[in-house]
Amino acid sequence: MDIDSPVLAAHHETAEATPLRRLAVLTAGGDAPGMNAAIRAVVRCATLAGIEVTGFRRGYDGLIRDIAETLSGRSVANIIQRGGTFLETSRSDEFRTAAGRGLALRNLNRRRIEALVVIGGEGTMKGALQFAEETGFRVQFIPASIDNDIPGTEYAIGFDTAVNTALEAIDRIRDTAFAYERVFCVEVMGRDSGFIALDVAIGVGAEAVVVPEFPPPMTEICNRVEESHQRGKRSSIIVVSEGPRTGGVMPIADALTKRLGSQARVVVLGHIQRGGAPTARDRLLASRMGTAATQAAIEGAPPSLIGEERGDIIRVPLREAMERRRQLSPELVDLVHKLST
Ligand code: F6P
Repeated sequence: MDIDSPVLAAHHETAEATPLRRLAVLTAGGDAPGMNAAIRAVVRCATLAGIEVTGFRRGYDGLIRDIAETLSGRSVANIIQRGGTFLETSRSDEFRTAAGRGLALRNLNRRRIEALVVIGGEGTMKGALQFAEETGFRVQFIPASIDNDIPGTEYAIGFDTAVNTALEAIDRIRDTAFAYERVFCVEVMGRDSGFIALDVAIGVGAEAVVVPEFPPPMTEICNRVEESHQRGKRSSIIVVSEGPRTGGVMPIADALTKRLGSQARVVVLGHIQRGGAPTARDRLLASRMGTAATQAAIEGAPPSLIGEERGDIIRVPLREAMERRRQLSPELVDLVHKLST
């Protein structure tokens, strides 16, 4: 994007100098339970500090199309307990283009907005970083994704709720698995990472977990389940992370059916994991992150990810966060198998 263009240059010169009077907030990418609690914290902290807040609807698309409204402390009443995002969200192809980002900046400047809080997942973070680096706009980023795959933070808003939702569903499945002596293969979300699958597998006491980071050979899964049956187990739960890298749940269920001689049942939990009321942990995390992001914006901090590390809320420069990698623990994968004996 051309930083010498009149619109961008005008903003670039004044951004650092002015005290914050007008702040905008938006949610982008896949929704995650707790996003509403984060918006509420941003709006309430900013209005307490005398700052006017604008909410852009439908993520970056709403920023490009200027779909916005002023938010007061009352606008965010009665939302802390709601899943999804009342500002709505989208995955925007247009924001990936320089022209799209130029329109977004034009709308922010027209409304004389001086800082932006963006709430979303990894793709949203990439967009926020690009926009901040190109324009010098004050952007703060709050990580929210059920996948928990965002670098720079140990936890993203929504992960805890998704894991607990999956646990509850699989506890129900286990009742039938036990009563009926059945093998169930349950597919959970996570896109390209196995954080949800791993925590869920440990939490439900699964016989095996299949994650994209360390996909076990099919024969190993079949051996594990067969051996557990030889030891007297009559039911099993296999937790499988979705996506092309694991191959999903069907091939595993087919292989187990052949090996055991009885039909392995398949359950795909899908979007059930993404909706619903956020857990206490997600509401707390979102409230703390929303507050910290607003504080960072007020201080004129450089573009940062507001993360959680060992229980503390931290600021990580957005560029540095983007360059980090989240690692799944192989020890925890082993723990699933160790505890299923
Ligand atoms: O990133 C959140 C997530 O729910 C992933 O776990 C999943 O792979 C993806 O979004 C599904 O996206 P969509 O709702 O567009 O089908």
